[in-house]
Amino acid sequence: GLKKKEVNVLCLGLDNSGKTTIINQLKPSNAQAQDIVPTIGFSIEKFKTSSLSFTVFDMSGQGRYRNLWEHYYKEGQAIIFVIDSSDKLRMVVAKEELDTLLNHPDIKHRRIPILFFANKMDLRDALSSVKVSQLLCLENIKDKPWQICASNAVQGEGLQEGVDWLQDQIR
Ligand code: GTP
Ligand code: MG
Repeated sequence: GLKKKEVNVLCLGLDNSGKTTIINQLKPSNAQAQDIVPTIGFSIEKFKTSSLSFTVFDMSGQGRYRNLWEHYYKEGQAIIFVIDSSDKLRMVVAKEELDTLLNHPDIKHRRIPILFFANKMDLRDALSSVKVSQLLCLENIKDKPWQICASNAVQGEGLQEGVDWLQDQIR
């Protein structure tokens, strides 16, 4: 068949937000891991959509590893930024990391699409995607296409909508 277009995606966000769980759900079932553990450094993963072949840099969100993120910005053609919608205390930290990302010279002047997952929507105290969007001031992002989707990565809910949007931005 036709070879799918290859796209490098950076998966970013605080530790425990659900990045690895999301990427794992997007992989074919025979390639999915059973147990997800906190990522050390980063991990390179692959998944396909109807027209694209994604290579994902699944970065650790732990504070001590966040300085690794920027080394991959140049290679990234799309960003998946994951937020734990129930982690109200660290929403400000997530915003700081997002702002640092958006102001980085390797990101700032590029029209790189950003898909936000307001993850863990299944938890009782989770904020809505609208509220998460407000707290992160996403409406201020004017020079990049972006989208926010509520998700439950454990059940795989909301992920496909997000990835469909991302695919449309790249094609
Ligand atoms: P780091 O690798 O440390 O940066 O974390 P991560 O962002 O990759 O998070 P990970 O995927 O390891 O998930 C952290 C924990 O959150 C795990 O126990 C997951 O099962 C749980 N989790 C992930 N997504 C969801 C969700 O949508 N709902 C609920 N309830 N739990 C989730
Ligand atoms: Mg991880």
